[in-house]
Amino acid sequence: MTKPRRSAAWYGKLDKDGFIHRSWMKNQGFPDHAFDGRPIIGICNTWSELTPCNSGLRVLAEAVKRGVWEAGGFPVEFPVTSLGETQMKPTAMLFRNLLAMDVEECIRAYGIDGVVLLGGCDKTTPGQVMGAASVDIPSIVVSSGPMLNGKWRGKDIGSGTDVWKFSEAVRAGDMTLQDFMAAESGMSRSAGVCMTMGTASTMASLVEAMGLSLPTNAALPAVDARRTALAHHTGRRIVEMVEEDLKPSDILTRESFENAILTNAAVGGSTNAVVHLLAIAGRVGVDLTLADIELGRDIPLLVNCMPSGKYLMEDFAYAGGVPAVLAQIRAHLRPAQTVLGGDISAYSDGAEIFNDDVIRPLSNPVKPAAGLRVLRGNLAPDGAIVKPSAATDALLEHEGLAYVFETIEQLKAEIDREDLPVTPDTVLVLKGCGPKGYPGMPEVGNMPIPAKLVKQGVRDMVRVSDARMSGTAFGTVVLHVAPEAQAGGPLALVKTGDRIRVSASRGELTLLVDDAELATRRASWQPDPAHYTRGYAKLYVDHVLQADKGADLDFLVGKDTRPVTRESH
Ligand code: FES
Ligand code: MG
Repeated sequence: MTKPRRSAAWYGKLDKDGFIHRSWMKNQGFPDHAFDGRPIIGICNTWSELTPCNSGLRVLAEAVKRGVWEAGGFPVEFPVTSLGETQMKPTAMLFRNLLAMDVEECIRAYGIDGVVLLGGCDKTTPGQVMGAASVDIPSIVVSSGPMLNGKWRGKDIGSGTDVWKFSEAVRAGDMTLQDFMAAESGMSRSAGVCMTMGTASTMASLVEAMGLSLPTNAALPAVDARRTALAHHTGRRIVEMVEEDLKPSDILTRESFENAILTNAAVGGSTNAVVHLLAIAGRVGVDLTLADIELGRDIPLLVNCMPSGKYLMEDFAYAGGVPAVLAQIRAHLRPAQTVLGGDISAYSDGAEIFNDDVIRPLSNPVKPAAGLRVLRGNLAPDGAIVKPSAATDALLEHEGLAYVFETIEQLKAEIDREDLPVTPDTVLVLKGCGPKGYPGMPEVGNMPIPAKLVKQGVRDMVRVSDARMSGTAFGTVVLHVAPEAQAGGPLALVKTGDRIRVSASRGELTLLVDDAELATRRASWQPDPAHYTRGYAKLYVDHVLQADKGADLDFLVGKDTRPVTRESH
């Protein structure tokens, strides 16, 4: 250890300041030897009763502490704001950057040498990683882990994915409201995150593939004792990482982001990974662009989990989890360091597939080329994305007339109208749902199919918006159109009856309206008045970057690793 410990500037001082820092900590019963210069490890916890997906994190925090003490460190747990995806309005995404700020400032302000990030629910993982990356002290992730498989009437049901399906079935008259309500209790049966390959499990899988967590962290069920043991091991490892000065900037390289993109394709991961990876890359100064997301284009879909497949995360864990997937795509992986200090390839050493329908071998994929596609054209000059693995193949090449919803309120008011002038070929367009628009870029891009078409058996249509969609959702849904309508993107100019062409194979999203007509429309266009005029939401709307840049706040891009020298008293 050549570098002086960061914590020494708090707890190693033999003066008034050191007295203050130590003495108040001792009111919790910590003995003198806790301050003898050992590594102080922050446990950054997003536990909250309003983030049910993270409700298991108190147990995991205690296990991390045991590991830290065992390895000769001093663990200190602290809370940060928690983002409950299913509980927050208008959308938890509005607050991802707030969590990232909270994490960054806590790490910087407190006298800790390393940090264990305890997250799980969708936005908590990227928010924590973004914040930690901007301070760049040794950091490691322990995830909540997925809930046990949903069970209802003898069948497995998946978080989110089956909510969308059941809700359409009710609208189609194929399911009673009573049954729908009864399924509620069977869906969420234990602590943990959505047990589909939604955004939470996607981000946990990508964090594992980037080497930011120990192997097997992503898939082990939340309540599996092996996860608690993994948390214990993580506590031991972070102490060593401090000694080795192994930091996020050593791990989050261009290559590790590429590995995340390849893994996202193989697991059938969430479209939300795009904005999160771009935002994390911005923090560490890796020049990742939206176009790079297509690096996974030819990687086959191997993980047969909802929403792209049929199984759930518990099945994925027992079939081998992320290490088994990494073993399959090992030839494609780029060399990249992990929290263990070695190369990512070590994560798949000896990994086997124990159920080859849940995790398919490369020779028998669920779909041959599954990676996300980027679409561009005069409707999305800065890009949009689509997830072919969760779409209807025939609709990925489509031309149709737009039906435009100017606002989410208009959509909700009209979607069940029997006289809505739409056909299965109509392209549903929704505006005003980007980062500035909603605000916060909510998960409403998978618009419901109009009731009159649902009743005719239609289950998918082309939908285009500046919104995101839940990682648990599916359909031929074009998302993240940039620039967004509220920022004056061409999406703002689309009118009902305009012709739109989508081609996933050519990467195209075109509004077939001539430039002169668009210029006329632009001359009379006005943004909507702001919904939020104060506080954090105003800061967000004034500073948020567009989706193709990761929707971070402009002044949060990059990092500041300088020591804090001024004392509190
Ligand atoms: Fe929290 Fe899905 S809602 S993980
Ligand atoms: Mg979500």
